[in-house]
Amino acid sequence: MEPTTPWWRDGVIYQIYVRSFSDSNDDGVGDLRGLIERLDHLEWLGVDGLWLNPTFPSPNADWGFDVSDYRGVHPELGTLEDLDELVARAGERGIRVILDLVPNHTSDEHPWFRERRDFYVWREGRDGGPPNNWVSVFGGPGWTRDDETGLWYLHNFDPKQPDLDWWNEDVRAEFDDILRFWFDRGIAGFRIDVAHGIVKDRELRDNPAATADDIEHYRRLGQRPEFSMNRSEVHDVLRRFRRVADGYDAVLVGETYVHDIETLVRFYGDGVDELHLAFNFVFLLAKFDVSVLAPIVARTEELLPSHAWPVWTVGNHDIARFATRWAEDDAGLARCVLMLLLTLRGTPVLYYGDELAMAETDVPVDRELDPVAKRGGEGRDGARTPMPWSDVPGLGFTRAGVEPWLPFGDASVANVASQRSDPQSPLHLVRDLIALRRSEEDLLSGEYTPVTASGGVWVYRRGSQHLVALNCGNEETEVPVSGSIAIATERSRDGERVDGGLRLGARSAAVVRQER
Ligand code: GLC
Ligand code: CA
Repeated sequence: MEPTTPWWRDGVIYQIYVRSFSDSNDDGVGDLRGLIERLDHLEWLGVDGLWLNPTFPSPNADWGFDVSDYRGVHPELGTLEDLDELVARAGERGIRVILDLVPNHTSDEHPWFRERRDFYVWREGRDGGPPNNWVSVFGGPGWTRDDETGLWYLHNFDPKQPDLDWWNEDVRAEFDDILRFWFDRGIAGFRIDVAHGIVKDRELRDNPAATADDIEHYRRLGQRPEFSMNRSEVHDVLRRFRRVADGYDAVLVGETYVHDIETLVRFYGDGVDELHLAFNFVFLLAKFDVSVLAPIVARTEELLPSHAWPVWTVGNHDIARFATRWAEDDAGLARCVLMLLLTLRGTPVLYYGDELAMAETDVPVDRELDPVAKRGGEGRDGARTPMPWSDVPGLGFTRAGVEPWLPFGDASVANVASQRSDPQSPLHLVRDLIALRRSEEDLLSGEYTPVTASGGVWVYRRGSQHLVALNCGNEETEVPVSGSIAIATERSRDGERVDGGLRLGARSAAVVRQER
């Protein structure tokens, strides 16, 4: 007998930056009770799982990614009971909850940093400076000297985020236990932060200098993080996580921040022994150009092990919102992107607000909170601003007059209430595409077969009967096909018959159910 399909294979996952989703107690910070109150929206939209950005206690040097207790809940977000209640209430609606695990580093305020120094990477300096040449992803040296002992500790990110030593068996055992703690509470899985970088070179060798051929990120760092991250020994750790997760049928989705598909697919192991899903940053970070993206999708399809399943996303809390970054504020193009995301073969992950085609918010310098922005890097606050539920003062996110933790974006077009009353809106498009996926096996498990990708037009078949045509270009086009339009970005065309050729205006797209 075929094993049953796990929920996340057919499902849609929705990423929530809890601080910005919904504020239940009017302190300007979103929280778990606020999220519970918004489950109606998520059920109406039709999503199957929620990935919550870190919910653990944290001094917020990096907004939750500096964890000071892996078994608790940040008091600003709520309590452990609130989280249990969220899991229960969401569960009643068939929605699972995934948490964000940060195993690469802790906060320097985690008790381990004082009590278990062996959990971290400490070394003697070299010639009066740090132990090696590694730099922090956030800028500056990757090491900080402890005045008391004169030793240096490693931090691939902020100095307030000391890296754990994954060569220490006790660290590994501790995380097994943390995973079980949450799985026992009904958490359906984890997104694993920095999944490619947890294990460091045992000898802490210097990273090689970046060359002109390296990607921009490495050129900016001045080095290729060959020894500070990206070690093949990380796969042992992921296999270990997987063994624990398998005992609970839990899902593991990794932040696999690697820059070629060959390396990416290795995170699936042999298809059943490492991550269930590995985020595709080659796709996510690419320029929005059909001639760039279509080959990435094709290559991913080609190289994935047969039991492995793709995962697609067009944004997250670390990069500018897709409506601005990819669609450049063009409403038609934004709809094409949403149709792409929801019709590729694989699990789509929507970032909160994507369903509204929410734009990046301009955050003034004096309101910036992201440690990267404060160091003069590319700030991430603009993609983390409060969810616009309506256009009243407070945007339905918080009470009128309360200053939200990050400023509101422009909610005149992108807000839930107005888009819900407009059947032509991105919100309805997303909801209807999710429903269509659910009703058409082709769109869930059907093969992805590219037909053409040129001149900004991307056409592919899904399964035996469906054809997706995306005209991301500036010219009208005609795609040879017969059948009827299941959903078009221009919603008035839904149901239209197509005889031999589908005409598509610039920046519009359609899913066609073909005649047999
Ligand atoms: C990941 C997170 C990012 C965080 C970093 C350090 O890249 O997505 O938000 O700053 O790890 O934890
Ligand atoms: Ca609150």
